[in-house]
Amino acid sequence: MPRRPMIAPSLLSADFARLADELARIADADWAHVDVMDAHFVPNLTLGEPVVQAIQAVSPVPLDCHLMIEDPERWAPAYAELGARNVTVHAEACTSDPRALAKDLRSAGALAGLALKPGTPLEDYIEVLRDFDTLLVMSVEPGFGGQAFMPEVLDKVREARRLVDTGHLTLLVEIDGGINADTVEAAAEAGVDMFVAGSAVYGADDPSAAIASLRAQAARSFPAP
Ligand code: DX5
Ligand code: ZN
Repeated sequence: MPRRPMIAPSLLSADFARLADELARIADADWAHVDVMDAHFVPNLTLGEPVVQAIQAVSPVPLDCHLMIEDPERWAPAYAELGARNVTVHAEACTSDPRALAKDLRSAGALAGLALKPGTPLEDYIEVLRDFDTLLVMSVEPGFGGQAFMPEVLDKVREARRLVDTGHLTLLVEIDGGINADTVEAAAEAGVDMFVAGSAVYGADDPSAAIASLRAQAARSFPAP
C-alpha cells in the first residue's frame, strides 16, 4: 500500500484555556500531538494525565502523547490506559530496557513510540525499535515550540526509512520540531510518515487549511512508489 503523509498538530501552540475548541479546529488531522513535560527531563512544564484524560474525552482525533518526562516506566502506561492512540517515551529517559515498556504500552491498547533527541544516535536503538510501532525523530531540542528545524537529523530519518523499507523495522517514522512550509518537503523526501507541527498549524489563521497545505506539500515530495 502506498504511504501517505500524516499530520499531527501539536497542542503546545494551542490556546490552553480552550483546548476542546482548539481540538475541534484540527478535526481533519490524523493525530493530535500532546506534549507532556515535567520540568525535569526538559526545562519546561506543560500538562499531565488529568488534562490528557479530559481532552481524550472530547478529541475528534486520536491522541499522540509525547512524554518528555523522567521515569517513563512509572508514568507512561497510564496514558495508554486512558485511551491515547500512541504513547511515545524518550530513549534517553528510560532507566531499564525500553522493550519492556513497549510491551506494557501495547498491552494497555496503545501503539508504543520511542523518541530520540537530536544528538541521540539511531544505531544504539535499532534492535530495541523492533518492538516499537513509532519512532519520533526530534528535529529540535525538546522543551519548547517555535524553534528552528535542525536539518542534520534527516540522516537519521533516511536510515530509519531504509530499515523500514527493507523490512528490518516495522514502524511509522515521525518528526517533531520546526516543521512548516519551508521544511516539510525535505522531511518528506527523507522518509517521514507523520509530521508534527505546532506553530505552523496553530499560528495559522486557518489551522485546517494549514494541515491540508502541509499534507499536500509532503505528498508531492514523497518518493515515487
Ligand atoms: C517540542 C515539542 C514539539 C513542539 C513543536 O519539545 O515536542 O511537539 O510543539 O512545535 P513547533 O512545530 O512549533 O516546532
Ligand atoms: Zn512533541
